[in-house]
Amino acid sequence: MTGIICGTGSYAPSYVMDNNEIATMVETSDEWIRERTGVVTRHIIKDETTVSMACEAATRALADGDVDARELDLIIVSTISSNIILPCTACEVQKELDAEHATCFDMSAACSGFVLAYNTALAYLSGGIYKTALIIGSESLSNLTNWKDRGTCILFGDGAGAAVMRAGEGKTYFPVTCSDGMKGNALTCQSRHTLADTRHMADPEYSIQMDGQAVFKFAVKKVPEAIDETLKKNGVKKEEITWYILHQANSRIVEAVAKRLGEPLEKFPMNLQEYGNTSSASIAILLDEMKRDGRLSGGQKVVIAGFGAGLTWGASIIEWR
Ligand code: UT7
Repeated sequence: MTGIICGTGSYAPSYVMDNNEIATMVETSDEWIRERTGVVTRHIIKDETTVSMACEAATRALADGDVDARELDLIIVSTISSNIILPCTACEVQKELDAEHATCFDMSAACSGFVLAYNTALAYLSGGIYKTALIIGSESLSNLTNWKDRGTCILFGDGAGAAVMRAGEGKTYFPVTCSDGMKGNALTCQSRHTLADTRHMADPEYSIQMDGQAVFKFAVKKVPEAIDETLKKNGVKKEEITWYILHQANSRIVEAVAKRLGEPLEKFPMNLQEYGNTSSASIAILLDEMKRDGRLSGGQKVVIAGFGAGLTWGASIIEWR
């Protein structure tokens, strides 16, 4: 028994912010951002919230998979940027979908979150505990961004992606996942809920702070190692992998990972040029785009790999049906 993705969906806010607009806020340029990150535009919430985007992506994934919400046994939302703390975002999705039989909880693992949500649902489904699961990554990183810090505000965007999974016959591939809390200082964000008033909302201390170079070096070393280890653990050769779907953080990171793995860049799809880094939503949005435009098809083996704050990282193999 294993878990099989049978439907995907995504949602991106309609407001699109391009690099030139960022250049009106901080000292930077379209050219610098494109060259150093690959990002050209990002979608930014106006009326949307993390909850509303999660609900929309989930609705689209259920429709795509032809799954009734009442069949869902499990809903996991990966987010670090929800507009609510209680109830959890997954319970709000349950309410919106009327998924009355589902057990719901949120996960907080930043940019590794969708991979960990996938692994968690996979464990439940392959273990025979649940039959149908919905996993979602939804992020409003614009709310956590210091729009005066050119080292970070150029990178991030908002959006949500979702996948529906069913238990079914097939091989369960074992993931490789790692955490290194000792290096957590490289990427931090303090909770805004530790103070009794809201004066701190404009305080950079309560926005994302990042040692960009440290995170970059960590990603290009650890992600290829985790992918190699995952392939080895499951007896899968690189030639069998059609796509490596990496967390969409920076095109230079994706290129460096491809080089270290000795795999052609064509196997590493990217959509960060349009969305920026949407943390735990990025892999889910890309999966959905690739399913819709036909790049994903039955029989393909796909690697998904996440990395980010924690530090956390990991890779999983998905056999596409
Ligand atoms: O989801 C996972 C989380 N995050 C990541 O994956 C991010 C990983 N890191 C990165 O993507 C890159 O480190 C950044 C894109 C954040 C920065 O690129 P970099 O090539 O590492 O630049 P840098 O920090 O080494 O800065 C190089 C120069 C500096 O100027 P000096 O000291 O050489 O004069 C910076 O002050 O570029 C300057 N700089 C900028 N210039 C124009 C930094 N940010 C900008 C900017 N526009 N936005």
